[in-house]
Amino acid sequence: MKILIIGSEGFIGSHLINFYLLKGYDVIGVDLFEQSRSNITYHQLLINHDTLSNVLKQHSFDYCINAAGNGDVNLSVSNPELDFKSNTFFTFQILEGIRLYNPTCKFLYISSAAVYGNPEKLPVSESDPVKPISPYGWHKLLSENICKEYFELYNIQSAIVRPFSVYGPGLKKQILWDLFNKSSNQNATLELWGGGQEARDFIYIDDLVKAIDIIISQPNLKAEIYNVASGEMTLIKDISTLLLINLNRKIHIVFNGLIHKGNPIQWKADVSKLFALGFIPTIHIEEGIPKLATWLKTQ
Ligand SMILES: NC(=O)c1ccc[n+]([C@@H]2O[C@H](COP(=O)([O-])OP(=O)(O)OC[C@H]3O[C@@H](n4cnc5c(N)ncnc54)[C@H](O)[C@@H]3O)[C@@H](O)[C@H]2O)c1
Repeated sequence: MKILIIGSEGFIGSHLINFYLLKGYDVIGVDLFEQSRSNITYHQLLINHDTLSNVLKQHSFDYCINAAGNGDVNLSVSNPELDFKSNTFFTFQILEGIRLYNPTCKFLYISSAAVYGNPEKLPVSESDPVKPISPYGWHKLLSENICKEYFELYNIQSAIVRPFSVYGPGLKKQILWDLFNKSSNQNATLELWGGGQEARDFIYIDDLVKAIDIIISQPNLKAEIYNVASGEMTLIKDISTLLLINLNRKIHIVFNGLIHKGNPIQWKADVSKLFALGFIPTIHIEEGIPKLATWLKTQ
């Protein structure tokens, strides 16, 4: 099997590479940065129609996963054009390249739970209303619809995943990374954004990768959407405390009561659709956070 991982140097992309190498696939990576490993075929490029067409003309892929794009909600608020290009326009260009040069290649798009905004009910399921509250969420939703367009009009098979909060070694953004950096000077008290009741549905990176593989390996992909999460809601303050304990940092957390524009209060996923495919998350935060802490200590 031949697989193209776009965004192969990123957090999710690099874990996908490791997984598919272990599975014995022929792995081709694409990213902006210099190649960091020698065991895959690698193309260093900025995605545009010509660069991507060259890659898609050179190989015949069974699968393509788009793990590239801006993952920073706050950046999308301050620079919506950049976010539109990297989260929506690139997705269009990838699908157009597949249509022209690799039409039997199955495509997986990594969307986001951000399409839900602040859900009316929890747990939120794939059929519940989508109400993004950030450019990031809107642009992910547009990309999901482009996947549907290419399936309905051109029969390009695809699947869409909506990961909730993914964490693990390699993640250099979001709350846990910020906490690691902010707590490094060992002050007695640490201020975090929010009111303390913010909660997320966390999933360890290895579980996300397994879920993606189960989804993409189905025989017929019809641009279906899948929530990818553990199905358990964890308070940010609880996971933060657990991380600090595992980092051996004795710090008191206080919340400043301020809400970041574009960030929801609480998330919990209905994962019954994913679980019906046979997926079960195996790494609970009690096991995942120590693994993350071990990696953070090397940074
Ligand atoms: N990390 C999470 O918790 C999470 C949750 C939901 C969705 N997602 C989505 O998953 C995707 C990957 O997230 P991540 O955390 O791995 O991000 P990341 O920033 O670690 O990795 C993205 C990679 O894409 C590459 N890239 C960006 N633009 C490119 C371009 N034009 N051409 C080639 N390469 C390009 C970057 O260089 C980077 O290596 C993003 O779309 C993100 O929105 C992530």
